[in-house]
Amino acid sequence: MAILIDGKAVSAAERELIKEQISKMTVKPGLAVILVGEDPASQVYVRNKKKACADVGIYSESYDLAAETSQAELLELIDKLNNKDDIHGILVQLPLPKHIDETAVINAIVPEKDVDAFHPVNVGKIMTGDYDFLPCTPAGVMCLLKHYNIDPSGKECVVVGRSNIVGKPQAMLLLHANGTVTICHSRTKDLKAKCLEADILVVAIGKPDFITGDMVKEGAVVVDVGINRKADGKLTGDVDFATVEPKASYITPVPGGAGPMTITMLLKNTVKAAELKGE
Ligand code: GUN
Repeated sequence: MAILIDGKAVSAAERELIKEQISKMTVKPGLAVILVGEDPASQVYVRNKKKACADVGIYSESYDLAAETSQAELLELIDKLNNKDDIHGILVQLPLPKHIDETAVINAIVPEKDVDAFHPVNVGKIMTGDYDFLPCTPAGVMCLLKHYNIDPSGKECVVVGRSNIVGKPQAMLLLHANGTVTICHSRTKDLKAKCLEADILVVAIGKPDFITGDMVKEGAVVVDVGINRKADGKLTGDVDFATVEPKASYITPVPGGAGPMTITMLLKNTVKAAELKGE
């Protein structure tokens, strides 16, 4: 029987610390959240982000823009927020409508306010290890490992998925923690063999129940970053919990594992942005 990694509990504990930290600050951290269009999943994420800000004492402003908003209009808003003193972090919820170039939008946010850590300057800093902002989802995973005293140092760490948001930065953070890191993806020849080597397996590929028990080594730590909605409306991860759990030493459930940590890391980055500005 694996130990369940309780992302809700760790997240709540971390948010208490953030709240305490904010209560001692002279400046109230401020976050602007921009949503373009009416994607229902994005609406839920944005609502949760704003609520989390209010809970810990971060000022937030939200901009809900119509799906037809032009790229120029969005860039104009970002420019305004880049120069707004009470806003320390700017978050543009992805994905954006097809007519908007995501890279152009990410690049328009000044790196000092890029609390998602998506800007190339921040991505580069993550690569060198000299970073201000940690990418939220991978940082959440690292925070969970720390809370459960799971040290990646010297371990075989396998990341399944190579997205800019999760897979690539996750690999980098595990590497900084002295793990031996392998990144697997859709062209990986023998995914099962690679996964079977993992002491720590982090899965972020967006395919429901993709990783099954036969792909996991006895005693492995399994972190499931996937959130998929099944036909019956229930949420499931990228890991087939029923067959993987009996083999794992630790495992994250979905929901309630890696998910709750992402927003908590966003709050941390916003506080960091406000602190850095105040220096
Ligand atoms: N869409 C899915 N995940 C994220 C995230 O972490 N940040 C932003 N801005 N959009 C997302």
